[in-house]
Amino acid sequence: MTLSYMPGFGNDFETESLAGALPQGQNSPQRCAYGLYAEQLSGSPFTAPRGINERSWLYRIRPSVKHSGRFTPVKREHWKTAPNLDDHELPIGQLRWNPTPMPESAVNFIDSIRTMTTAGDVHGQAGMAAHVYAVNQDMVDDYFFNADGELLLVPEQGMLSIFTEMGIIEIEPSEICIIPRGMMFKVAALNGEARGYICENYGAKFSLPDRGPIGANCLANPRDFKTPIAAFEEKETPCRLHVKWCGKFYETLLGHSPLDVVAWHGNYAPYKYDLRTFSPVGAILFDHPDPSIFTVLTAPSGEEGTANVDFVIFPPRWLVAEHSFRPPWYHRNIMSEFMGLIYGQYDAKEEGFVAGGMSLHNMMLAHGPDAMGFNKASTVELKPQRLENTMAFMFETRFPQHLTRFAAELETLQDNYADCWSGLKKRFNGTPEGDWSE
Ligand SMILES: [Fe+2]
Repeated sequence: MTLSYMPGFGNDFETESLAGALPQGQNSPQRCAYGLYAEQLSGSPFTAPRGINERSWLYRIRPSVKHSGRFTPVKREHWKTAPNLDDHELPIGQLRWNPTPMPESAVNFIDSIRTMTTAGDVHGQAGMAAHVYAVNQDMVDDYFFNADGELLLVPEQGMLSIFTEMGIIEIEPSEICIIPRGMMFKVAALNGEARGYICENYGAKFSLPDRGPIGANCLANPRDFKTPIAAFEEKETPCRLHVKWCGKFYETLLGHSPLDVVAWHGNYAPYKYDLRTFSPVGAILFDHPDPSIFTVLTAPSGEEGTANVDFVIFPPRWLVAEHSFRPPWYHRNIMSEFMGLIYGQYDAKEEGFVAGGMSLHNMMLAHGPDAMGFNKASTVELKPQRLENTMAFMFETRFPQHLTRFAAELETLQDNYADCWSGLKKRFNGTPEGDWSE
């Protein structure tokens, strides 16, 4: 099936999967076409300023009150929510993990989610969590919504089909998908199994960063964001709706599918984006800008320029800077950085950071190129160089990221990561030239 999408970021969209299902000229007719129920889904308070006011009108077979009812509390041991402090004994430090193993038994998307870090406080709608998923089973009669935040999915292996209330999105590695807070959905792994990363954003939703003097183009362009057209299931068989609410989990049994929206209009909707359409801007003479120049999406925290969480990528690009150290420089940062690698090699690390792996550089903990990378970048002849075969990303938040016990005790945690800097020699010898002997 070829899916259709509507282009644009945060547009006021309209779509119907049956002709005439979408009311024209009003939101709430006395009787909707096809006997549908009209329902508003709000992503912002009613009174939010127009520029950030978000809501959609859904025309559905049953109103959502028929998709809830009596909830049963359930335990999900591995999906943690901030604040989740003092969960382990591991001291602070720069951390890195090898890829998450694929599951050996059947597990669907929601059951496969494992939390690596949490930050902030879900009760204040501030902060985020970084998760991994590794799935080999489709959600068929299981559905889910997350009241705690929007979900940013970053596949690393395998295609996903995400059937949401508002339509179907398919993504492959190098694409991402955002599922708004509160939206019901289910996920299928189109290649049988799939693996990737998730950012659960408790705060204000992701938006496009301002470009300042860059102007009206480049970075992530609005037209490259794709929102699905309406699609629905008419299924009258036993189904189960799972809910995450303030860090706790519940489920309720239904006699039908909750994905029953026949038509909708509005600006609160899921979307996908192809990271390969990101138009990077960078150094064309010397030095390079801060990595914020690669921000795809930013979720503001309320304090200007201080993100609740940024989603940043390091895509293929040309390096042309003259007389410059081209990889990311050494730094310490008030923000906390969770990184993953979708494919290829990241330019600050010659080895050890592999696709499906992760690293965590927390608030004020130093990091930068490994010894091999530093030596190479300091001595290489500076010709124009195309960085090929690389797609790393970062979830960067103003809040410290607290490890879960799961992450701290993972067998894939590299106990020698900090050794990647042990080969950095003292080059200072009192002369302006320094000591560049091997
Ligand atoms: Fe960093």
